[in-house]
Amino acid sequence: MRGLMRETSLSVAHLIYPMFVQEGEQNTPIESLPGCTRWCVADIAAECERLYKLGIACVDLFAVVPEAKKDAQGSEAWNPQGVVPRAIGAIKAAVPGMLVMTDVALDPFNTYGQDGIVKEYADGSYEIVNDETVQALCRQALCHARAGADIISPSDMMDGRVAAIRAALDAEGFTAVSILSYTAKYASAFYGPFRGALGSAPKFGDKKTYQMDPANRREALREAMADVAEGADMLMVKPATMYLDVIAALKENTHLPIAAYHVSGEYLMIKAAAASGWLDERSCMLESLLSIRRAGADMILTYAAPQVAEWLAENSALN
Ligand code: PBG
Repeated sequence: MRGLMRETSLSVAHLIYPMFVQEGEQNTPIESLPGCTRWCVADIAAECERLYKLGIACVDLFAVVPEAKKDAQGSEAWNPQGVVPRAIGAIKAAVPGMLVMTDVALDPFNTYGQDGIVKEYADGSYEIVNDETVQALCRQALCHARAGADIISPSDMMDGRVAAIRAALDAEGFTAVSILSYTAKYASAFYGPFRGALGSAPKFGDKKTYQMDPANRREALREAMADVAEGADMLMVKPATMYLDVIAALKENTHLPIAAYHVSGEYLMIKAAAASGWLDERSCMLESLLSIRRAGADMILTYAAPQVAEWLAENSALN
């Protein structure tokens, strides 16, 4: 009876799995994100075959970049031999049906750990420069599209980057490559474990000049209007569970599909509490993700995707 009247569903078709890819031939478990791994290129493809069989049809790739390859500009971000382009090729060769999304931002690649290009001034102050960054993001997006990415996902929060990336993609004939814009990405403390996983924490300062103030909801609508006008195909809210009102606002006020990113800190709170025996992992994870769906998200990026896929396959009537 409950099932007949249920208003919201959570299925594996709604899940996108964020994955980390690194140089070399080793896979290393990520201590700060239990259950997640930094994959080497060869093994990420094999893992994608397993995920695809579980019903996960989209992965989002993040690069782990050794310090020696970082520079002030973040130029490794558009190296066609970088780990992300190589991983795209390997995944597409092994699992042609897998949708491959890639993160576009400079923080794993530049020495500052900032999403954009940093300009330092003589008096010791600094600025993340918007327009120069947008040019760099276009180079990174093109590098991923040439390697076969299906969805470009700019997470940097610079102004005007969706229009610029769209134009750059179209100019090279990548009209079918979609853009999932991080529309409302908040300056959140819940990203901490992710930055540990990538070694990408800001070396100084914070990200508050470009990521949004957690106090603001209407600003998210303004960002959404800009992204719609610039040609985004999907809009994202991040983090997810602390921002359910923002997800609902974007769903009601735009006609684009809405994604929500259940970020590292949100995932880890449940994992840590479950490891201490304080919360039931399965029911808390499923309830969190269902809440994100109820708020209006069409798709959810979550580190729990493989585990959730297994749970959902077990007995749908009980989920
Ligand atoms: C940076 C980026 C971040 C995340 C995704 N892309 C961190 C940040 O903005 O500092 C966070 C993901 C998570 O916490 O799970 N471009």
